[in-house]
Amino acid sequence: MKVRDSGMPGKDMWENFFNPDEVLITLGLNSKINNAAEFGCGYGTFTIPAAKIIKGEIFALDIEPDMIEITQKRAKKQELNNVKTILRDFVTDGSGLKDENVDFVMLFNILHADNPDKLLREAYRILKLNGTLGIIHWNYDPKTPRGPAMEIRPKPEQCIEWAEDTGFYNPKKYNVGPYHYGIVLIKGRGEL
Ligand SMILES: C[S@@+](CC[C@H](N)C(=O)[O-])C[C@H]1O[C@@H](n2cnc3c(N)ncnc32)[C@H](O)[C@@H]1O
Repeated sequence: MKVRDSGMPGKDMWENFFNPDEVLITLGLNSKINNAAEFGCGYGTFTIPAAKIIKGEIFALDIEPDMIEITQKRAKKQELNNVKTILRDFVTDGSGLKDENVDFVMLFNILHADNPDKLLREAYRILKLNGTLGIIHWNYDPKTPRGPAMEIRPKPEQCIEWAEDTGFYNPKKYNVGPYHYGIVLIKGRGEL
């Protein structure tokens, strides 16, 4: 099931809203990170720069064949062999990735889903102990040029509460660009 309000404007417009390298560095992505995953990679706006930073592979999941194709083509053009695109509905079918397999999960512009807890639990499952969850989302501000309807747009405090309920801890919040907030949390030892 496609996440509500998760359609994308044109690529050029979308990519004007962020400075992806700055966002990723602010959230702590660095060359010590081995594997990563992005739930809903879209145009690869963040997947592609992340692939250039990390040591290992990045699993880029999306339900839309077009988005997967664009991300794949961008990776190929830039000779990035560590981008593993996966056409998949992660809401209905999960990510299909192994338990405790990645060091960093990116939930970017996706937590306005009907069931954010499901995505957070899946992120928790595939993350290694002490792995990092990175969230970004549109500011809770009706003046942002895009973003999900205010009725379903989560506030940062809400994302933190959901993530802590899932077993993540040590939340840190950042402003990432003019329209977005970022949050980083760590996977703790809690049992789901
Ligand atoms: C708002 S876009 C964000 C893209 C990217 N994370 C970014 O911030 O640039 C959300 C993406 O999630 C994908 N998506 C929505 N529901 C999905 C689902 N159930 N399974 C996999 N991908 C999904 C959409 O196709 C879209 O590409």
